[in-house]
Amino acid sequence: MPPMVSILVIMGQSKCTGYLAPVDFTTDLQTELSLRGITVLETHGRLFLCEGEPQDVVFAQDTWYDVEKVEYASINNAAEALRARGGEKGGRWSHYSLNNHRRGELILEKVPSVKIKKYNFLDPVPSTSIGVFALLSESLMLVSARTKCPLPFGEIHFNEDKINPPSRAYLKLWELFTLYKIKPNPGERAIDVGSCPGGWTWVLQTVGCQVVSVDKAPLDPKIAALPNIDFRQESAFGLRPQHIGKLDWFFSDIICYPDKLHELVLRWIESGLVDNFACTIKFQQPTDFETMFKMQQIPGSQIVHLSCNKHEVTWVNLKSLR
Ligand SMILES: C[S@@+](CC[C@H](N)C(=O)[O-])C[C@H]1O[C@@H](n2cnc3c(N)ncnc32)[C@H](O)[C@@H]1O
Repeated sequence: MPPMVSILVIMGQSKCTGYLAPVDFTTDLQTELSLRGITVLETHGRLFLCEGEPQDVVFAQDTWYDVEKVEYASINNAAEALRARGGEKGGRWSHYSLNNHRRGELILEKVPSVKIKKYNFLDPVPSTSIGVFALLSESLMLVSARTKCPLPFGEIHFNEDKINPPSRAYLKLWELFTLYKIKPNPGERAIDVGSCPGGWTWVLQTVGCQVVSVDKAPLDPKIAALPNIDFRQESAFGLRPQHIGKLDWFFSDIICYPDKLHELVLRWIESGLVDNFACTIKFQQPTDFETMFKMQQIPGSQIVHLSCNKHEVTWVNLKSLR
């Protein structure tokens, strides 16, 4: 068998990190990488291979650590190379299909693989990292033995509830609570602004929150009739934190310009009455990176692009991280 060659160096770089853009948001990832001064070495579809150590990049749906290019001679030979990089048990692998799809699937059959499944809300998600490979040709593949997200390609898929929630926006909170494990405890008090028709309010009510739900438009009557929901039909921008009182959580899915949301959350942070925040930053064209970076700099903040976020990202600010 010809020797297997591992090309540890991609275009002369000793450390290579892969960032995978969400479907349809390749341009946003490319702009963010450039604004962060990260050098792109190669692109393969929505995968950007970059110089240097991994950084927190919002528009990366997943991050591949220590990417290598590996030459292989056969399917068995490729599988051996993956198992050798997977630790004692050979790892858990996913196949990101770039080229030679069938060949990649045959390699995947020969290594321990990540089972693709749909999750229920709050199902435990594996905490160990997984590996990924992508074939560049019949004899060359990209390999990362460790990715940031424990699920393939940074995506979670749910068994959806097609009956109770009045909109599909509930999936954002399902993902935040299930995959990121960022979630209120039963009995906590939350405000949900921009709540209509009521998907988020419904999720918060199902996890046991006392919910103040605010929108200029009315809530779906089915949601408004649930217990522990205090609906107020008014503008979120006119609310005074002192009139609402102490809150464990502030949620916002309001449609507004990012700088208006930034102003709003600063007002609630400054009130000292809110412990934790989870808000959607919704973008127009062009994407307002300036405000996104400002919000990321607020102490205790992290920003993620959830699988079900479209041209928007989710800003989280936790008291425990402040
Ligand atoms: C994307 S929808 C929210 C969906 C909701 N999270 C759900 O799960 O059903 C955005 C909402 O923001 C509301 N909105 C826009 N401006 C607002 C304002 N100034 N105050 C309160 N709500 C506002 C709109 O009425 C709309 O219902």
